Amino acid sequence: MTSPVRHFITLKDIPPETLHAILNNAHVLKQEKFNPPQLFEGLSLAMVFDKRSTRTRMSFEVAMKQLGGHTIVMNMDEMQLGGAESIESTGHVLSRYVDAIMLRMSDQAMMEELSRHSTIPVINGMTNLSHPCQIMADLLTIEEKLGAIKGKKIAWFGDCNNVSNTFVEAAPIFDFDFIMACPEELHNKAPKGAQITADPAKAAGGADVIVTDTWVSMGQEGKSLDMFWPYQVNADLMARAKDHAIFLHCLPMHEWEEVTEEVAKSKASAIYDEAENRLHAQKAILAWCLEDTGVKIT
Ligand code: CP
Repeated sequence: MTSPVRHFITLKDIPPETLHAILNNAHVLKQEKFNPPQLFEGLSLAMVFDKRSTRTRMSFEVAMKQLGGHTIVMNMDEMQLGGAESIESTGHVLSRYVDAIMLRMSDQAMMEELSRHSTIPVINGMTNLSHPCQIMADLLTIEEKLGAIKGKKIAWFGDCNNVSNTFVEAAPIFDFDFIMACPEELHNKAPKGAQITADPAKAAGGADVIVTDTWVSMGQEGKSLDMFWPYQVNADLMARAKDHAIFLHCLPMHEWEEVTEEVAKSKASAIYDEAENRLHAQKAILAWCLEDTGVKIT
């Protein structure tokens, strides 16, 4: 049964028309960035992290505060959750203090369990499996730079990870073409139904967007990079894409492994617009999650 609480954990659990409306609202809220509507007055967001973060922490905190709300940030190892307290108890207790919870939690099953015991929205700030807030910011960036996302070709290079998993989920919802170029030995890590090739030139050909992420996700330090070098985003790869193609990376980059400095600092690179757009996309996500408290974008 679908929860009546507006959790934002996986894109596939949210009606497509809702996701389209959130993306439209993100454009609207970005236009109002210098005169932000005080939508979240009196509302509080708890943010809990079990991994490092710059963008997720800063953008959620600024999003709440610019729109009149408050935030409370805790690392998981400071909470009773990391000790004796159960997920169930934590969900019930946080629901009595704040209006929404943003979690960066490696274990998605644990996040989903917490959401089942929360009477307030739970927002996925990244798990090992998915990163839906990042993808909403990426789609906002693509629409700003290239117009409607429908029909665009987005080509991904390197590892199969939480960000590529979420692009795969978003593709049928937003009607874009998503192709992954990854080493053959990783193809079994891609979600079912993903378009995947070992040929980077094929993926880049005619692409509107070239996107990559670090080859070494948090917790994988020390892994060999040998198989990834043919998938580095460099000027030759960019030249295969359309003339107007943009380059995206959710950041942080491992300089200059998955992308060359030349591409990352080129005119095609939209990485800092993409980082800024976490803020605007998350304002719209929060506004949808908090609608039951009376929040309404006019
Ligand atoms: N892209 C992203 O989630 O950045 P942080 O890890 O800094 O939050």
